[in-house]
Amino acid sequence: MRHKVTIVGSGNVGATAAHWIASKELADVVLIDIVEGVPQGKGLDLLEAMPIEKRDSAILGTNDYADTANSDIVVITAGIPRKPGMSRDDLLNTNHKIMNDVVGKIVHHSPNCILIIVSNPLDAMAQAAYKMSGFPRERVIGMAGVLDSARFRTFIAQELKVSVENVTAFVLGGHGDTMVPLPRYSTVAGIPITELMDQATVERIVQRTRDGGAEIVKHLKTGSAYYAPSAAATEMVEAILKDKKKILPCAAYLNGEYGIHGLFVGVPVKLGAKGIEQIIEIKLTPEEKTALDKSAAAVMELIAVINV
Ligand code: NAI
Ligand code: 2OP
Repeated sequence: MRHKVTIVGSGNVGATAAHWIASKELADVVLIDIVEGVPQGKGLDLLEAMPIEKRDSAILGTNDYADTANSDIVVITAGIPRKPGMSRDDLLNTNHKIMNDVVGKIVHHSPNCILIIVSNPLDAMAQAAYKMSGFPRERVIGMAGVLDSARFRTFIAQELKVSVENVTAFVLGGHGDTMVPLPRYSTVAGIPITELMDQATVERIVQRTRDGGAEIVKHLKTGSAYYAPSAAATEMVEAILKDKKKILPCAAYLNGEYGIHGLFVGVPVKLGAKGIEQIIEIKLTPEEKTALDKSAAAVMELIAVINV
């Protein structure tokens, strides 16, 4: 059976996610946006690349939510991105209004879908979507940890001059300045990076990871990163559609795990056909737990502003 993935927002992240998903032939893709013409144009352009890519993915660009009906997964990238000098949190009120507009329509047409939220500020938007959708927590997942960990992995591989395939890394917490890269759980071919680098190098890479989004914004000047973010969302889509039971760091609604209640925060989860099939609790040192609590408190501040 063919899968159907809807991507809301046909801007940089949305259109590039459509590109990855279609070119991996994971699903048929519906690209929807509030702006007339852009999803239709990008959708048709991508469809016309399929004979060259030798892929039979169907891609439809639209402004009509009826076309999104019965999607297996809906990836929400609608919203404004940051510009230089802006933090992800500056996007809060605008993107909350957009999330309000989008989620009701998606739920109406695809009541059984799994939602992957990408819009920023990520954890607060995931919480807003969760509350608005009425879905069980297994079916509302935030994308951030896969991206932040990929940045961490990139910098580790560059530093040690090893294949990125050898590097695994974990970044937990909220998708913001307080995110929590975990060097102890980050390895090269199974060897913790703390055995391979001195403390100062680890700290420099950790800080570059925390600033990874801002580093791209500074270069681009007119928007934020989209290749790695859309690849990260695609990895989550693939894990779900192929029921891979893959362990990935994702924003999940915690009900007491890690001592956190009623809040979306990035933690390791098992992704499969049902969405989040398990939240994995790993042992944290007192310093790591303090950092995670601080990150959760930063998410809580945003949640309080939009009251979700
Ligand atoms: P973009 O500006 O290129 O695209 C956003 C699209 O959303 C535009 O095409 C716009 O017309 C559309 N849109 C706005 N309101 C809409 C509505 N009510 N319904 C449907 N579509 C609507 O922005 P980009 O770069 O694609 O980023 C999208 C969002 O993703 C931003 O909030 C950004 O901060 C966030 N982001 C999150 C990441 C993460 O790690 N969670 C990583 C990268 C981006
Ligand atoms: C990033 O980390 C903007 O959240 C986005 O690139």
